[in-house]
Amino acid sequence: MITIDPKDIKIPALHALLLAAVAPRPISFASTIDKEGNVNLSPFSFFNVYSSNPPIMVFSSNRSGKTGETKDTYKNIKEVPEVVINIVSYDIVQQASLASVAYPKGVNEFIKAGLTMLPSENVKPPRVAESPVQFECKVNDIIELGDQGGAGNLFICEILKMHIADHVMTEDGKIDPLKMDQVGRCGDNFYVRLTKDTLFEIVKPVATIGIGVDAIPSHIRNSKYLTGNDLGMLGNVVTLPTEAEIDAFCKAASQQSLLQLSTAQRHEAAHQLLQKEEIHNAWCLLLAPENNQ
Ligand SMILES: Cc1cc2nc3c(=O)[nH]c(=O)nc-3n(C[C@H](O)[C@H](O)[C@H](O)COP(=O)(O)O)c2cc1C
Repeated sequence: MITIDPKDIKIPALHALLLAAVAPRPISFASTIDKEGNVNLSPFSFFNVYSSNPPIMVFSSNRSGKTGETKDTYKNIKEVPEVVINIVSYDIVQQASLASVAYPKGVNEFIKAGLTMLPSENVKPPRVAESPVQFECKVNDIIELGDQGGAGNLFICEILKMHIADHVMTEDGKIDPLKMDQVGRCGDNFYVRLTKDTLFEIVKPVATIGIGVDAIPSHIRNSKYLTGNDLGMLGNVVTLPTEAEIDAFCKAASQQSLLQLSTAQRHEAAHQLLQKEEIHNAWCLLLAPENNQ
């Protein structure tokens, strides 16, 4: 394992490692305006949502690593403390990338990137019409983290209005992650796209408390055939199967071949069951008495 003290490496190298390690990051496609009314649009992946009450998002426009200068977004927000944060879907990611070009202050990246300005309701900067979700925000605070190149400037943005495109909504009023087709930023030039193949669910009922990995019997917990994810799923049950449940499992015709397996093969079979999210069956197989073999 490589261990790094940030003071010992050059800022560009540290920056590259941070961006690759903390990934993927959502992208705030930020629309701002200066006091003369010049519009600016730039992507920022130092971004996330931090509070629902009040609804707060934070993104950071860093000082240039080369010149130490603050960026146009920072200058605009200093003049007019408002921003529209637009979410970047796959179909506008190339335009978002193009908008990151360091055009001179006053150049409107909506025009440069070929995107449509949609008037906002509560703030002066326009929204990106092509973005599936747009947040009109007032900037409550700017936290400046330093005065050297690479220093972040955190914008604490309070959401005044949220606009969601109909086509990304489910019938029961949720946002469908697949319809959002959202992208995220990784290190170097890499991005990720949220697709059917990359999306998965972890069912974790907040009302229940899992037994924990430490409560898994040691011969299972220390199995070399079970992964950390397997143990996480096994430890997420509220109770172990009862003897009656294990007995019923052992008597079921469909399980007979599994019960003939050696201990190692059983663990491998339990791993396969967990892959299919058959957690109860995996537990029964792991706990079934050896004399069933
Ligand atoms: C996807 C993407 C994410 C970016 N994230 C950030 C970021 O989090 N912070 C930052 O300072 N620059 C970031 N940049 C670079 C800025 O977009 C770029 O410096 C831009 O020119 C700033 O525009 P402005 O001077 O108009 O504010 C990112 C660029 C891209 C393409």
